Amino acid sequence: MPYEGPRVYRRDELTYNRYLKVEELLQLQQPQSDPAHHDEMLFIIIHQAYELWFKQIIHEMESCIRAMMAHKALPAYRRLTRIIKIMQLLVNQIHILETMAPIDFLQFREKLNPASGFQSIQFREVEFLAGLGNEKLMGVFLNWPEYRDTLQRRLDGPTLRSAYYDLMRAYKYRIPEKISREPDEKEREQILDALRELYQHPNHKLPVYFLSEALIEFDEYLVLWRQHHVLVVERVIGGRKGTGGSSGVKYLESTTSKRCFPLLWEARTYLTKEPQWEAEENEVSDL
Ligand code: HEM
Repeated sequence: MPYEGPRVYRRDELTYNRYLKVEELLQLQQPQSDPAHHDEMLFIIIHQAYELWFKQIIHEMESCIRAMMAHKALPAYRRLTRIIKIMQLLVNQIHILETMAPIDFLQFREKLNPASGFQSIQFREVEFLAGLGNEKLMGVFLNWPEYRDTLQRRLDGPTLRSAYYDLMRAYKYRIPEKISREPDEKEREQILDALRELYQHPNHKLPVYFLSEALIEFDEYLVLWRQHHVLVVERVIGGRKGTGGSSGVKYLESTTSKRCFPLLWEARTYLTKEPQWEAEENEVSDL
């Protein structure tokens, strides 16, 4: 059918711009530099885009945790696949900032001082929800009790890690009932035994295996984001200190060793060649 021209909307109808609050959204980019430096727009928009995606990731993580606590491996897996796709985008997005020359950033950097990504409440929520809760990181919000409450709630509540262990127990893996945030040697051994059983025989409980691999992929993309971020930071500010008061690149490099699921990574070390995945292919998956 040929294009018949636009539909004419009444002013009281729902429109694209009203539904998405486009007018309000476009008011939110307020440069600190005056006159506004050309690149400050990019700097603001890229951070705002990250914050919007963090919001979506948190939304999906909460749902994923609920699914695991209800022992539903495949719905939890489905949530994670979306989170991973978003994270792939976020890893690449940081490189747009490399089109900003270091001297251009210097033109407006001091205007942002002492604001810093270190204060991103949503980034901390993602970490805490993944199982990387750390009271020390709450110190930066001393004068923001509402943010501290949010993080305390995340710290006390279920996480991807705790919900995963919950699901593993439901699938009859011998995961200890109580696990400390930093598991002691005995807890570690028991969890590693269970993970070894899962990874040695993926077909026995295939949904749990796929879920576990999605969790490790989530972890992998979080590390990749940290690595890409630190490289971009080094390329733009070299060895300067961060506006948040840290040593900058040195501090950020120290965070790249963080793992949400360290035992899922470690378990691979102890796998043996036998039996082979294909040899077990016809075994019934325990759904
Ligand atoms: C030119 C661009 C950027 C520079 C120079 C930069 C620099 C830094 C530095 C130096 C830190 C360490 C804390 C401090 O002392 O300030 C940091 C932390 C952080 N930045 Fe960036 N950053 C840039 C872009 C971004 C973008 C686009 C995001 C997206 C949200 C982001 C998110 C974060 C987060 C979440 C942290 C805390 C990391 C942690 O503590 O593990 N940064 N950034």
